[in-house]
Amino acid sequence: MSDEALIVLDKVNKYFGPLHVLQDVDLSVARGEVVVVIGPSGSGKSTLCRAINRLEPINSGTITFDGRPLPAEGRSLARLRSEVGMVFQSFNLFAHKTILQNVMLGPLKVRKEKPAEVRERAMSLLDRVGIGNQAEKYPAQLSGGQQQRVAIARALAMQPKAMLFDEPTSALDPEMVGEVLDVMTSLAREGMTMVVVTHEMGFARHAANRVVFMADGQLVESAPPAEFFANPKSDRAKDFLSKILTH
Ligand SMILES: Nc1ncnc2c1ncn2[C@@H]1O[C@H](COP(=O)(O)OP(=O)(O)O)[C@@H](O)[C@H]1O
Ligand SMILES: [Mg+2]
Repeated sequence: MSDEALIVLDKVNKYFGPLHVLQDVDLSVARGEVVVVIGPSGSGKSTLCRAINRLEPINSGTITFDGRPLPAEGRSLARLRSEVGMVFQSFNLFAHKTILQNVMLGPLKVRKEKPAEVRERAMSLLDRVGIGNQAEKYPAQLSGGQQQRVAIARALAMQPKAMLFDEPTSALDPEMVGEVLDVMTSLAREGMTMVVVTHEMGFARHAANRVVFMADGQLVESAPPAEFFANPKSDRAKDFLSKILTH
């Protein structure tokens, strides 16, 4: 991890009509840092992620990525989207394309890269997430855990500078959660800058550099995991932890 910030949010505000979903959010993510975002449902975690790659425009404040303000449109927005990989709860793979085609699509269509190079990179990414032998199958032939690993490989195929994960394991059967978290943990160890919204506290403890706790659109606490879990400062964080850690 370096001291230089890759992602900087400064006094970010976002409204949905009268609902103030991001309230003066300040957050700086260093290169190579892994930030886990936790908090109750509706606290603004997904909106925060979506704001970082500009799937949601913000109302005030600034977000900079790699030293530049987020572009509003056009080619520079397309470039930002390819530099910030995003993995959602739902895998959103193309059903009528093979696993390999799904992973190759972005680099071919958005980046206009050479097919042979893209294919080689896609295959090595599929190997890395443990599904190289499934490359010619279609998404429906794979388990949820395997599909989510394809979605991670697909994002990595664009050679992003950062990866955002929004509850990547929430839709999975319990026995498949581990295989996805393992891929994310190795990505973290390899130095990828990551913002991860998750309820998997084991991942937060072992893979995160920092845990950020959100409630009602505010960033309430930010601390290294050991410190946060041992000694949450706010009542809301204590209350949240008591609810999720007791079942
Ligand atoms: N597109 C939208 N239009 C209106 N309200 C929204 C929209 N997306 C999210 N919200 C509201 O904004 C708040 C924060 O949502 P979200 O960021 O999804 O929270 P979280 O991911 O922490 O559960 C919630 O009250 C949610 O209902
Ligand atoms: Mg959410």
